[in-house]
Amino acid sequence: MTVARKMQMFAEKSSWIRKMFEEGARMKAEFGAENVFDFSLGNPDVPPPEKFGRILRQLAAEDVPGVHGYMPNGGYPHVRESLAEHLSRDLEVELDAGDILMTCGAAGALNVVMKSLLDPGDEVIILAPFFVEYNFYVDNHGGVTRVVPTDREFNIDLQAIEEALNEKTKVVLINSPNNPTGQVYSRRSLQDLAELLDSAGEKFCTTIYLVSDEPYRKIVFDGCEVPSIMATTTNSIVVSSYSKDLSLPGERIGYLAVHPEIHEKRSLLDALTLANRILGFVNAPALMQRVVGQLQDVSVDVAIYARRRKIFCEILDAAGFEYVKPKGAFYLFPRSPIDDLEFCSLLQEEKILAVPGRGFGAPGYIRLAFCVDEEVISRSGEAFKRAMQRAGSRDGATR
Ligand SMILES: Cc1ncc(COP(=O)(O)O)c(C=O)c1O
Repeated sequence: MTVARKMQMFAEKSSWIRKMFEEGARMKAEFGAENVFDFSLGNPDVPPPEKFGRILRQLAAEDVPGVHGYMPNGGYPHVRESLAEHLSRDLEVELDAGDILMTCGAAGALNVVMKSLLDPGDEVIILAPFFVEYNFYVDNHGGVTRVVPTDREFNIDLQAIEEALNEKTKVVLINSPNNPTGQVYSRRSLQDLAELLDSAGEKFCTTIYLVSDEPYRKIVFDGCEVPSIMATTTNSIVVSSYSKDLSLPGERIGYLAVHPEIHEKRSLLDALTLANRILGFVNAPALMQRVVGQLQDVSVDVAIYARRRKIFCEILDAAGFEYVKPKGAFYLFPRSPIDDLEFCSLLQEEKILAVPGRGFGAPGYIRLAFCVDEEVISRSGEAFKRAMQRAGSRDGATR
């Protein structure tokens, strides 16, 4: 067999994503794209801000020698300086250019962090429901994920984390605003978590890093605040990108920021920089670094997502779904009235594409992404109602 056994297993495990993608394409070809309600993909459809195109054209037209060359592995110093100035406000600590590394998206940043921190067998605590790729990123670098549940509203369950901590725990990885739940962790809960990790670190004579994955930081609703983990503990790293807030996922541009007083800062930064190089990224895309360096003050029009959330919530209410209203990101994560896989196929019969919660470590839920036109959401109301009614009669029949 040519392909490694582990990769075969991974392909098998994640095959339902591919299957759904293929199924969506088949349904759109058969019924017409306008007749399929595809809520399966978190691929932002809101256009980047106008300033993005302007700056991109301006920089592309400049004829500066060397702009296409290699650079320091951590990225252009002037771009990191611009980020540091902006992030110091957002992350509530004084950062300088040296605390920041430009990366190939948040995904690249997470791999760089795991490569730098994990020895074989080290554990990374992730909170369910989780972004499914976390398992792969941790495994890429010899680590092991330990999945811990959240509470009924998808908030941090401190006791569950406490029970999972042990001498092998190296990282606790959180994601706020969250994919798939839209939950944003409160300042109080982050402070409690940070205290717990600091005291567990002392108990196990180790350092436990709090890593926060925040590509949705700027996509929040009703004036929701996203508190900074850096205000709670020095052993913290924030990873993020411009994939969602500038709608640039294909451009693969992101960054990581380490707390200015993080434990063994110099050697950690050296390791992160080396990881960026030897993972084969070498450096984040040059042109995009220069572009985002000038786009720190803009983001996509979040009001578009806010309107879609409102319409979608009304539709789910009318159909009788139970759900926690998302505070940020662009997903809804309602409870499935029956087994989530079964419900997703039933939804599919109504031409609705959703992702089963088990793909995020949370069976019994479904994920609906609102990266689609408002009009697609509005037209899906009757189909959701029919699916709920059919699920209701199925559920009754099996009792
Ligand atoms: C929670 C979360 N983290 C990381 C990523 C990866 O983002 P990027 O495109 O910046 O690598 C995504 C993408 O969907 C995400 O939802």
